[in-house]
This record gives sequence, structure tokens and C-alpha cells, in this order.
Amino acid sequence: MSQSDDTIALAVRRLLAGFQAEDAAGETLGSATLEGVLVRDGLVQVTLGVDRARADALEPARRAAEGAIARLPGVANATIVLTAHRASAAPVATPQPAPPQPASHQAAARPPAPKPMPIPGVAHVMAVASGKGGVGKSTVSVNLAVALARLGLRVGLMDADIYGPSLPRMLGEHRRPEVRGDRMIPVEAWGLRAMSMGLLVEEDSAMIWRGPMIMGAVQQFLGQVNWGELDVLVVDLPPGTGDIQLTLSQRVQVSGAVIVSTPQDIALIDARRAVRMFEKVEIPVFGVIENMSVFCCPNCGHRSEIFGHGGARAEAQRLGHVFLGEIPLLLDVRSTSDAGTPIVAAAPMSEGARAFMAIAETLAKQLKKKH
Ligand SMILES: Nc1ncnc2c1ncn2[C@@H]1O[C@H](COP(=O)(O)OP(=O)(O)OP(=O)(O)O)[C@@H](O)[C@H]1O
Ligand SMILES: [Mg+2]
Repeated sequence: MSQSDDTIALAVRRLLAGFQAEDAAGETLGSATLEGVLVRDGLVQVTLGVDRARADALEPARRAAEGAIARLPGVANATIVLTAHRASAAPVATPQPAPPQPASHQAAARPPAPKPMPIPGVAHVMAVASGKGGVGKSTVSVNLAVALARLGLRVGLMDADIYGPSLPRMLGEHRRPEVRGDRMIPVEAWGLRAMSMGLLVEEDSAMIWRGPMIMGAVQQFLGQVNWGELDVLVVDLPPGTGDIQLTLSQRVQVSGAVIVSTPQDIALIDARRAVRMFEKVEIPVFGVIENMSVFCCPNCGHRSEIFGHGGARAEAQRLGHVFLGEIPLLLDVRSTSDAGTPIVAAAPMSEGARAFMAIAETLAKQLKKKH
């Protein structure tokens, strides 16, 4: 870590202590405990432990402190994440000068794994995941999100695929999100509020982000987007069971995950891994979707089972999870995706759109039960 990151970490601690001193009654940040300050290349991540029940009330104070940190010299970006209280953490009021550390060491210990918190204003977060790439997660995320919006829900769509964001293309949306105050406003498209790294940086440059930058970007999405009031935030995850999935599950209360798989064995093995990952982090699995289930020839209507058929249903049963339904392999699902006009919106009566609507109805019921 560079010297300037050291200096920033100390300044951040002092600033937070100042905030708390002003708040002598302990109504807002005075009641928080500092769980960690992480500074890398001017990117600041602060974790504050708070009483879960008061997270919403603390939001204005959190934002104010985040803004103040962002204005400190040398800070490129600041994120304060509130996590559920931990008894062992040090109160903010006792600022510690940064302990002497070897040059290679980090500014502060990595914050302990925090407890997940709700996103203010967002009733449910639903993750769309798969163990394997290219099985249609993004296609499913976009179309399920549009389908849920058509059912009358207020829906947000977050592209958590930092390496390869695909939502701008699939939504046909390339406007830069507006920034109001210290928050980004999602773009409105197809009745959704959407946010993607692809809207913030060129798609090619997003591809080269690595490690901590990625975590920082996910944190920023989680903390610095003003989603407004949402019934559900659909999160399109990158393939696999890596850091982004972990960050999401540690930071945010996820109501449930939808696992997308193609019918063949190789994809199912990966789907199983994704299911296990969510079970391990105690996120309920809403169910499994079989995508590219049966190929329907657009000319003659003949149905061929190119990747097999029914594998995901059998696997869901084996794993004790709900089978949510099948999406056939259809030319117009692919072409509408590429054209930036999701099929559920562009051709709501088509076979593909109806398949997505049926699954969305099941999911909407599951979400309702969770209220
Ligand atoms: N049911 C379907 N019928 C036809 N084409 C489909 C279907 N589902 C997805 N596709 C196409 O398959 C390709 C991959 O889909 P998509 O990008 O949604 O997958 P992904 O799982 O999000 O990929 P990645 O792992 O790279 O994020 C896209 O060209 C998409 O249009
Ligand atoms: Mg994708």
C-alpha cells in the first residue's frame, strides 16, 4: 500500500470520529462502530456496524459521511457500507492512529465478513445465476425483469457482470446514468430501472478490471445507486461462484436466487455448484430454469432437443428445489436480445415471451409470500 493510502486511511478515521463527536446524543453515526477502513489507490471502503433496525434511519448520515470522505484529498471514490452490528468492533469515537505497518501491508485489516443488509427502498433482491457461462442468464434476467414489470411490480435490473456487461446491448440503452448529489440514477428502459457497468465505462475497458477494482465496483453499485422504491431488484450475475457472488451475498440481503441451466449434463454439473454456493451462504434458491430447452424451427415449427430436454427439471427435483420452467431455444429470443428489444416487450404473445411470463408469475408469487 502506498504512503498516501495510509494518510487517507487515517484522515478517514479522524473524519468519522468528528462526525460522531458532533452527534453526541448518539442518534445517528454516534451509535455506529467502525468495522474497517480499506484504502487502495484512493478507493475508500468503510464498513460501519449498526443496529439492523436503524439502518434506514442512518441512511442520511451515512450519505453525508460518504460525501465528506469523497471530498478528502487523494480520495477517488468512497463507499460506506452499513452492516449489522458486531459486538467486538471498536466504536467510531476512539480513532486509532494507523498502526505502523510494513510498506506492503494494507491500511487496515480487511473488514470481517459483514452481515447482509437490505438496500434502502428495495423490498427484494433476486439474483440470477449459473455455474457456467453462456447459458442465457442475461437474457433470462432482462426478460424476467420486463415480465415482472408487466405484472405490475416496480422492478430494477442490476448488471453485476463487471467483466462482460451485456445489459446495455440487450436493453438497447447506452445513455450515461445521471448523477444527482452523490448518487447515480438508474436509466429507465422497458419499464425497468437499470444499471450496468457498461453504462459507466466503455464495454472493452470493463473487461480488464480485476480483483479489488471489481469488488469496489460491485460495492459502488450496491451503495451508490439510488434505486428509489422497488418491489424487486433483479441482479444478473456473472457466471461462476466467485468474488462478485460472494460480495453480493455478504453485503446485501438477497431474497432468493434463480439458477439458469441448459439441459445437458455438463451445464447441470455447474448449476449444481451454483445451487450449493447459495445454500452455503444461506440464500434461498427460488428454483431452476431450463433455458435453450427445445429448439423450435422458425420455418416449420419442428421441435428438436438440441441440448437434450428435461435435465434441469430432474436436477432441480434431485436437489430438492422448485423447477420454475423451460425457455425454448428460439431464434426470436436471440434476435430481440441482440436488437436491444427484449422479447417480452417486443412480442409479448410470442412463445418465448409467454414462457418468460409464466416463470415471472411463479416468482412474483414466491416474492409476495416473503413479505
Ligand atoms: N432461449 C434462447 N433462445 C435463443 N437464444 C438464446 C436463448 N437464451 C439465450 N440465448 C442467446 O445465447 C447467447 C448467450 O446468452 P446470454 O448472454 O444471456 O448468456 P449468459 O449466461 O448471460 O452469458 P455469460 O455467462 O457470458 O454472462 C446470446 O446470444 C443470447 O441471445
Ligand atoms: Mg451474462
